[in-house]
Amino acid sequence: MTSAPPPPLRAILRDAAHQLLAAHCSDDLDEASLEADLLYGEASGLDRAHVIARGAGTPSAASVEAFQALLTRRLKHQPLAYILGRREFYGLTFEVGPGCLIPRPETETLVEAALAAIKEHPRHHRLVRVADIGTGSGAIALTVAHHAPSTKVWGVDVSGEALQWAARNMRKFGLSERVVLLTGDLAEPLSEPLDVLCANLPYVPTDDYEGLPDEIRASEPQIAVEGGPTGIELIARLADQLAAHLALDCAAAIFELGAGQAGFVEDLVTSALISAGRGPLDVRVHRDLRGIRRIVEVRYGYSSA
Ligand SMILES: C[S@@+](CC[C@H](N)C(=O)[O-])C[C@H]1O[C@@H](n2cnc3c(N)ncnc32)[C@H](O)[C@@H]1O
Repeated sequence: MTSAPPPPLRAILRDAAHQLLAAHCSDDLDEASLEADLLYGEASGLDRAHVIARGAGTPSAASVEAFQALLTRRLKHQPLAYILGRREFYGLTFEVGPGCLIPRPETETLVEAALAAIKEHPRHHRLVRVADIGTGSGAIALTVAHHAPSTKVWGVDVSGEALQWAARNMRKFGLSERVVLLTGDLAEPLSEPLDVLCANLPYVPTDDYEGLPDEIRASEPQIAVEGGPTGIELIARLADQLAAHLALDCAAAIFELGAGQAGFVEDLVTSALISAGRGPLDVRVHRDLRGIRRIVEVRYGYSSA
């Protein structure tokens, strides 16, 4: 009796996509198919276009075995970005893994705001001094440094593990001459006056943290996600440090937040800057792609440029 011929790649991937959907790893079949393709690509060293092009062929036993190992990890809800070891962010491919937050699409809205604040800053034709507080993988610091060559950028994080990922990405993008990574609490390690300060600090309130998907709680560092009882404790502490670190004449401070937090953060930042004698203040709130008031930006000194 002859054994059944091995299934074509297309059938293996279709079966994997249905498993991913059934295990609630993906929201719909399109996303599950994309994940299956990416996992197979990782296992076999092919990009997605080549994975699709080979759909009618029979894959090697070694590729199928490597693919099944990655699929098993994904079915246990390890984040896809950790399995692949990378995540696209604002056109750059960041290396990521356990110990650093996976950059999120909504943070691209913060990067947009930071790039505009740099471009419109009176010092933009010289050197704009930028800090990214809670840099994680370096997503904000390195993207800004890459897209705005007239910047010097400091990335600060309290987590040594996260900073190791930031350092890898800094070397990968060839930015070691203009980016400095520092370990420490909020803005404390910084000594130079800053023109633009960005922060995507943890902002999920403690009570909400328990309700987050297992995939986040089991894999990504709690210190990168949970922001204390109200969610904005760290942002409030950073607001108190702002006046000591922002340039006297002209600066912008830009914060990423959770839904419903923009009004509180706007009040914290404006009152900290007004009591330090900065102003007049220009307050802007930027919505993310889902329409959530995600970014609070406070500027002063721009109009007199
Ligand atoms: C939400 S993640 C953001 C990571 C990255 N900036 C991004 O946008 O993908 C928050 C980061 O803040 C860091 N962090 C938490 N508490 C901190 C503190 N007190 N001082 C500096 N960084 C802190 C965490 O380690 C984590 O890397």
